Amino acid sequence: DGWACDNMMSQGVCYTYDDVIFHPGHIYFGAHEVDLTTNVTRKIKLRTPVVSSPMDTVTESGMAITMALMGGMGFVHYNNTVEEQAFHVMRVKRHRLGFDIKPIVMPPTATIMEMDLLRDANAFTCIVVTDTGKMFGKFLGLVTSKEVDFESDHLKTLGDVMTKDVTILPEGTTGETAYDLIKNKKQDAVVVNDASGAFLGIATREFYKESRTFPPLGAPTVDEQGRLRCGAAVGTREGDKQRVARLVEVGVDAVVLDSSQGDSTFQLDMLRFLKKTYPDLQVIGGNIVTSSQAQRLIDAGADGLRVGMGSGSICTTQEVCAVGRGQAAAVYHTARFCNKLGVPTIADGGVQNSGHIVKALALGASCVMGGSMFAGTAEAPGEYFIVNGQRVKKYRGMGSLEAMTKGSESRYYGDTQALKIAQGVSGTVKDKGSVRRTVPFMTQAVKQGFQDLGAKDIPGVRELLYKGDIRVEGRTQAAQKEGGVHDMVSYERRPW
Ligand code: XMP
Repeated sequence: DGWACDNMMSQGVCYTYDDVIFHPGHIYFGAHEVDLTTNVTRKIKLRTPVVSSPMDTVTESGMAITMALMGGMGFVHYNNTVEEQAFHVMRVKRHRLGFDIKPIVMPPTATIMEMDLLRDANAFTCIVVTDTGKMFGKFLGLVTSKEVDFESDHLKTLGDVMTKDVTILPEGTTGETAYDLIKNKKQDAVVVNDASGAFLGIATREFYKESRTFPPLGAPTVDEQGRLRCGAAVGTREGDKQRVARLVEVGVDAVVLDSSQGDSTFQLDMLRFLKKTYPDLQVIGGNIVTSSQAQRLIDAGADGLRVGMGSGSICTTQEVCAVGRGQAAAVYHTARFCNKLGVPTIADGGVQNSGHIVKALALGASCVMGGSMFAGTAEAPGEYFIVNGQRVKKYRGMGSLEAMTKGSESRYYGDTQALKIAQGVSGTVKDKGSVRRTVPFMTQAVKQGFQDLGAKDIPGVRELLYKGDIRVEGRTQAAQKEGGVHDMVSYERRPW
């Protein structure tokens, strides 16, 4: 009983994740035996099939470092200057295991009051002071609670109160050495600077204590030199060529050409240019939802394709422009085509739970890209604030008026001279804690889904689906309601 996926997907209906359900297969192995190793591009392998979206409320260096540490990968957004984006990529590439993921760096001119405001919004115990107020600036000192707890004048500057009594270690120091000093020599923090005194990283007692509460990280995504891998988004305008040049200089591993409708002359020209100029750089095209779009981008040299149009939680493209596709259908049809050519697809947008990840992978995607699943986490850019008694962070579509005002309209081929048409919304999402907690839970849940289907890995699940051995059915609205929690007065659950 049930249907082969191809029959179901050829009925002239574009289904999305919630519309379809798989029949269980036969379990003959433990969930721990499931291997989710995959590729995000032709050449870049991931142990965890999840990447974070290049959105300005989702991926900067803190997110990209954490995603790579957990075996996924982050794509830094480009709603910023070239130097700002390059800074984030550089931070990822120079990050060392065991050092703080998101150190707070301030200039010596900042006041204690300014520091307190930042501290209220982000829990941290130690502030690094550099001349520029940024990472890679000249290291000047540290401010911890010891320096400020008994200080009544909060207009004093960090330069006035900081301590210079800090253990400084040379570039290349490992996380183990730092941990050893913190544990055995009872230091609160140790700092790594390069030979010129530029601040490269800090390891703190708090970070190690906190890390103990998270599940183990698994194998990080690293390049041939052992550095974390990092992706970045760019546009398809002439000026984006300089952006890519700078990103390549700081070691970016992959760029994603960020367009809501990727099948354009601009993108094809950019793809050909980048593949010719930087043969080692992995270039991801998109977004697309059909196999004919995929064909053109693959012909132009795409190393991976991002699939999804209007399925994102903040997207209004389908309503505004009447184009797009239900995400399950988009993933199934494009991935089936791309898999024959050996080009990985990234199922982008619309992922709300681990079941959606299982569906995307079984339907043929190589990995999923998330915006809303990572927005509101500690690693996402921006600070927490309270709305109606709830701790929230901002999350916005890159096609929202708010984001486009900062520059992202090129994703939607917006003409700055003309009227700006929003294709997304801006708002808030709940505090989701750290992605260091959510991703391991999410991954384990996906493994259990694979176990239920009787598939041990991603190529295996695909094969079962293509052969028609995984049986598929559509779900009525009532069946979808039944498949969720119902008839409860109240209940609590983790999002993952
Ligand atoms: P989720 O569902 O994970 O979706 O929040 C994230 C993806 O949505 C896309 N995106 C947009 N699409 N208008 C759109 O139509 C927008 O303003 C917008 N911003 C992001 C993008 O592909 C992202 O990865």
